[in-house]
Amino acid sequence: MKLTVNGVEHDVQAPQLASLLHVLREELDLTSPKAGCQQGGCGTCTVLVDGEPRRSCLLPLAAVEGAAITTVEGLGAADELSPMQAAFDEHYAAQCGFCTSGFLLAGTALLNGSPGATREEVLEALSGHVCRCTGYVKIVRAVEAALHGEVHPERVEASFEPEETDVLIPGSPA
Ligand code: FES
Ligand code: FES
Repeated sequence: MKLTVNGVEHDVQAPQLASLLHVLREELDLTSPKAGCQQGGCGTCTVLVDGEPRRSCLLPLAAVEGAAITTVEGLGAADELSPMQAAFDEHYAAQCGFCTSGFLLAGTALLNGSPGATREEVLEALSGHVCRCTGYVKIVRAVEAALHGEVHPERVEASFEPEETDVLIPGSPA
């Protein structure tokens, strides 16, 4: 089956009922969607499907045939962050980062679809995303900053040289 992820079409070999999360991580080596609860409850596996945030752990491959999938790898680069990524950086909205991909994509969908969202709409869009370490205040502030255009991606300096990383434990969630 063909799967379009971040604008690139892939031939995937996994069975039709394999989860999109599994295919992204294990077949396409896109590891920004994290394997958290794998039951739809934590939001770490969120990706955009035709621009809408969806939990990839719950989506069988067959359900996304022909759709455009976006992961964090498709948002920006280390030296060219998207506005939502830059807002998270400016507001220190990530610690371990395990939840961050899901929040970034939920925030990006909101920015694209409802840039005038109210605080209540921001909270609604982020509900169901669980963060165990940063706390939600910074995350909400970051999303609101991006919505209000109060973000400066050009000021963010890449603090590391992007490089290929080895997966030490195949199938691990991180
Ligand atoms: S891993 Fe998909 S919602 Fe938790
Ligand atoms: S930053 Fe660690 S779980 Fe959210």
